[in-house]
Parts: sequence; structure tokens; C-alpha cells
Amino acid sequence: MKPDVKAFFDEATNTISYVVKDPTGSACAIVDSVLDFDYSSGRTDTRSADAIIAHVEAEGLDVQWLLESHVHADHLSAAPYLQERLGGKIGIGDRITIVQDTFGKVFNEGTEFQRDGSQFDRLFVEGDSFHIGQLRGDVLHTPGHTPACLTYVVGDAAFVGDTLFMPDFGTARCDFPGGSSETLFNSVQKILALPDETRIFVGHDYKAPGREDYAWETTVGEQKAANIHVGAGKSKDDFVKMRDARDATLAMPKLIIPSLQVNMRAGNMPEPDEKGDVFLKVPVNKI
Ligand SMILES: [Fe+2]
Repeated sequence: MKPDVKAFFDEATNTISYVVKDPTGSACAIVDSVLDFDYSSGRTDTRSADAIIAHVEAEGLDVQWLLESHVHADHLSAAPYLQERLGGKIGIGDRITIVQDTFGKVFNEGTEFQRDGSQFDRLFVEGDSFHIGQLRGDVLHTPGHTPACLTYVVGDAAFVGDTLFMPDFGTARCDFPGGSSETLFNSVQKILALPDETRIFVGHDYKAPGREDYAWETTVGEQKAANIHVGAGKSKDDFVKMRDARDATLAMPKLIIPSLQVNMRAGNMPEPDEKGDVFLKVPVNKI
């Protein structure tokens, strides 16, 4: 079955969120939503999430899932905000516990911060399946960018998060804690083993040299033939060398510090203090 897929591009973080709909009914899932955050002022904004809500309401959709491909380091998730307004269960990979453990330490979180993934409604493992109305979703564990990264295969569409980008841009960085270029290469092979005509929807786009417009949809066949990092039979050794060398030159994402603290809590802010005020931490020389 071919889901209807509607993309929402957030220019501030180059993130693409998706509404994936059962073509035979009104059931849908929202993949990788964005809560806008202005770091300079510490202010959140729901502009991006509200655009999704407007679409869901205009189309009369029934939100069953709020799916996260991983703990994003470059934008805050709007999943709890969307859940409050639209319903649906928040799902992520079960290896989130590794991410929570790692960053629970980095941010010196107390024992009240649970590292068992209990902030999420469903923890998926490789081989799990779920339904969006009549549509079936299958879960691939595709680590490498982070330990918990998942690819959601829904009908003929694969939501690959930050494993693969558009063929002319390549792949995501593998230098965050728990990341591994060798592991990413292996995960990409799982995605490339899907049928060639499988539609691939990527989690980010940054354009690419020579390309004027943002793009987010490609196919397994196109990735196999043309992905500049892993296509056309590129070897694992060459990929690992290239990826590690390139990652060593990359700056940290602008929103990594707020994003991790919020996203490891399923998109919730840390608990307010006794006055009801909410604070995020900046760990010095730890990331
Ligand atoms: Fe990411």
C-alpha cells in the first residue's frame, strides 16, 4: 500500500517532518516534528507544529502515532505538544536508554530523570510492526548516527531519519557519542536491501553543491546508484575513512545542548523549579 505523505520543511533547522496517511481512511502518523526554539532568547515557538496541526485538522485526520527516528541534536521535538492537541502515541527506538544514560551523565541529571525510556509510549525494536489504520509499519534498527536510530518502513515509504540524506548530499555524521561510521554503513545496507522502488524520505536537507532547491524524497534505487557516500558500490573502508575525516571538521549543531536535554525526555522540558520556572543547562567543556 502507498501512504499519502505530506512534508513540512523547517528552514531554521533544515528538518523535514512528515504526515503519513493511510490512503483508505483518516489514520495518520507524524514523523519527526519540530518545536521552534530561539537559543538567544531561550524562547520556544509552535509555528512549525501549528502548521502540522492545521493540516491535520483541515484534512480531518486521526493521529495514531508521533514517531521519532532518533534523539535529534539539531532541533527540539514537538511530540508532546502535538500529542496534547491531536492524540497519538510517541514512539522511538528502545536503545533510547543508551542515549539517556550517556546524556543523563553529561547533563548531570538527578535520579528523577528516568533512563528507562518511560517518557515514551512505545519503544520499538528491530522487526517490530505497528499500524496506521490499514497501513502496516515495520521497524528497522539503523544505528550509526546515534545508537537508537530507527527507519520506519510504512507501505512503500521508508522514513530514514538521519541515516541517508539525498543522494547528492550523502549520509549523516557519525561522531556523536555512541555513533559509528562502520555501524552506519551496515545500517545503510539494510535500507538499500529494500525494493528499488521504495520511496525514501530523509530527515534533513541542506541542498548540495549545484542544487538550488531543497529536496527530501528519493528512492532506494536512486540511492544505490548515486549516493555520493554509499552508492555505486562504495566500500565500507572508503566510507569509514571519508566519514571520520569529514566528521572531524564539523562544528556541533547550534541547538545540540537544548535539543538533547528536551528530546531525551521525549520532547518535554526538564521539571520546573519550585517557582515553576524551567531551565536548561549548558555543560562546560563536556560535549
Ligand atoms: Fe540527527
